[in-house]
Formats: sequence, structure tokens, C-alpha cells
Amino acid sequence: MIPSVLPTYNRAPLSFVKGEGAWLIEADGRRFLDLGAGIAVNALGHAHPALVAALTEQANALWHVSNLYQIPQQQKLADLLVENTFADTVFFTNSGTESCELAVKMARKHWYEKGQPDKTRIVAFEGSFHGRSSAGIAAAGSEKMTKGFGPLLPGFTHLRWGDHDALQALDLTDVAAILIEPVQGEGGIRPLPDQCLKGLRKLCDDNGVLLILDEVQCGMGRTGRLFAHEWAGVTPDIMMVAKGIGGGFPLGAVLATEDAASGMTAGTHGSTYGGNPLACAVGCAVMAHVADPEFLSGVNARAGLFRQRLEGLVAAHPDVFEGVRGMGFMLGLKCRAMNADVVKAGYDAQVITVPAADNVVRLLPPLNLTEDEIAEAIARLETAATALEKATA
Ligand SMILES: Cc1ncc(COP(=O)(O)O)c(C=O)c1O
Repeated sequence: MIPSVLPTYNRAPLSFVKGEGAWLIEADGRRFLDLGAGIAVNALGHAHPALVAALTEQANALWHVSNLYQIPQQQKLADLLVENTFADTVFFTNSGTESCELAVKMARKHWYEKGQPDKTRIVAFEGSFHGRSSAGIAAAGSEKMTKGFGPLLPGFTHLRWGDHDALQALDLTDVAAILIEPVQGEGGIRPLPDQCLKGLRKLCDDNGVLLILDEVQCGMGRTGRLFAHEWAGVTPDIMMVAKGIGGGFPLGAVLATEDAASGMTAGTHGSTYGGNPLACAVGCAVMAHVADPEFLSGVNARAGLFRQRLEGLVAAHPDVFEGVRGMGFMLGLKCRAMNADVVKAGYDAQVITVPAADNVVRLLPPLNLTEDEIAEAIARLETAATALEKATA
């Protein structure tokens, strides 16, 4: 008999009843150090007092109004995002995949309204992940994501990640946009080198193509800058955001320049919940912390320490780990053991990590992880690695 919850997830036998900062707690009181943060969602950890206060204050005042009316919390969050980024305008969604849907629509509409309706193709990359909606799976293109779900949304071309020659050889005449994650998350924590992002920007500028960056996972302070593309010193035309921006409350956004967004006039897009007062009240509280340069420099300092300690862990357990990669608090342990076994051994050691492609274990802790918690994380990962070594000896 089919379970009452549609069985699309492989769930671990863990069930948490409470969260406190970087800690998740089971009903029996067992405490797990959370280095997954709901897959890069709980940017400020669990039950952060400022987020709880923002949410409860808003919940006591007004939960929801339609986008038919003014929503001051939404306006405030849009202003904060515009002040702190390349963007001139923002549309709020509820998730990353909805942000992907709009990014694709916006790029196509841009060229349509500019009198170039044949520019519809989206160039995306193998190993990418952009969500589970029709545009999201068409953009990722992998068999794993698309098999059985055809006919797929047409107009996507996929290139091998890092294949510069294929990119240079591509006929861009009918291309509306290039879509890429500055740091691949699900794909195994693969940062795009700065010079590649700069090269993509130039290619787009030289050929009349929009650049869409998917910062759903790598954005909102995760890499130590508010958005990951800032490291390369280039800006996109359109950017997808979600996960960390709501700190655990469902919220996403599409940020864009005025020119890129010029086709999106009244009636061309909408959402019942997108940008609702509860979500945006929390989003403003998240931004107040994460966009603060002092907070970000703290992220860089502590993430640097974490990485250093992880290098030591890898060196001490060469049969389990091969290396560390990533940026800021978006780190990957490339494994020699099976990554699923490493994650499972972590559960036994009461530390939460997340598997990714390419046999990588992801470490995406809350951005306010303390130095003591870093020491605790290393100790628990040591315990997990030692247990795995013993099991295979
Ligand atoms: C880079 C990236 N884009 C898009 C998504 C889809 O986001 P959501 O699950 O909120 O739809 C994800 C989710 O993991 C992601 O990592």
C-alpha cells in the first residue's frame, strides 16, 4: 500500500522535535550538531531569537494578504535587496524552483519585447540543479531528473561543466540566456572559477545574451559574500534566490536589472503566496544580519578555521576522505568511502551532513556556527571516520 506521504524521499530514521542554533534535538533529548542546516536553509540556525520575534510579531498582526494589495514588508525586503545587490527590481517566490520558472520566463520575455522572439534558448550545464518544476528539470537535463517526465519544456541546451571549447563554439544567435550556479551544490560543491564567471559575463555581453545566476544554494552569505558572484567582481542580469533568504520560512526571489526585467509588466507573472507578510517579515530579519559586512567577515574567519580543521581531518583519514572543496560555509568533503556511509556514520556520531553528487559530503552549517561548535563538528566527524575505518578494517 502506498504510504500516506507520497514516497519520493529516502528519509533517514531521524526525527527532530526542536532546534536551537546549530543543534537539532530528538524527542529523547539526543542532540545532533546540524552541519546541513536544512540544505543551506537555516542561515542563522534554528529558532534564532530575531527571526522568532519577527515571525511572531507579524503572525500577531497579519498573516496573509493578496498581491492585489500593498505589502509593506515585501516592499521593505525588496528595497533591502536592491540596496545590497546589482538588482533594480525583485519578484518574490516561495522556493528555488519557482525562481527558476520566473528567471526563464523573464529572459524569454525580455527578448520577445525587444523584437527578437526567436531568442528563446537557455544554455545550462551538466551536473547542475535548478529545482524540480518543469523548467528546473529541463534546465538540469540529467536522465535522473527527467526520465519519464517528458515531453520536457523545450529550448534548453546542455554543455559539460568546464567545457570552454563547447561554449566558445556555440551558436548564440537564438540564445536568450546562460544559466549557471556560481557554486554547484547538488552537483558536488563545485565552485566556478572567477575567470570562468568573468568569461561568461563577457561572452553574454559580446553576444546579446542574458546571464542568469542560480544562487539558491550559494547565495545569502553562504560563501562569505552576500552573493557568491561578488567574489568574481561581475554581476548577472537575473539571479535566482531562495533557501537562506527565509532562514527556514519558505521564501524565494528573482532579482534582476531594470533592462532584463523590462518585459515583465502587470499581469505577466504572479503568485498567491510569493512575498507574503510572514515570509517577508522573516526575510527582512535575515537580511538585517546576513547583509551586515561584520557578520560576513565573521563568516569568512570561522569558515576559514573550519576548512583548516577539515584539511587536518582529511589528512588523518585518507581511506575515508580525499579532499576538501568549496567556499565559505559551502564545503564539500570528497570521499574515498561511499558518501552515503559517511553521512550515516555521522548520524551515529550525532552530526548531520548532506550527500551530494560526485561522492561528496556537503557541510552547509548555519552561518553563525561558533568556534566551539567547529571544534565539536571536527570531533564528531573524527568519530564517524574512525568508526568507518574500523568497520572496513
Ligand atoms: C542551486 C539550486 N537551485 C534551485 C533549487 C531548488 O530549490 P527548491 O527546492 O526551493 O525549489 C535548489 C535546491 O536544492 C538548488 O540547490
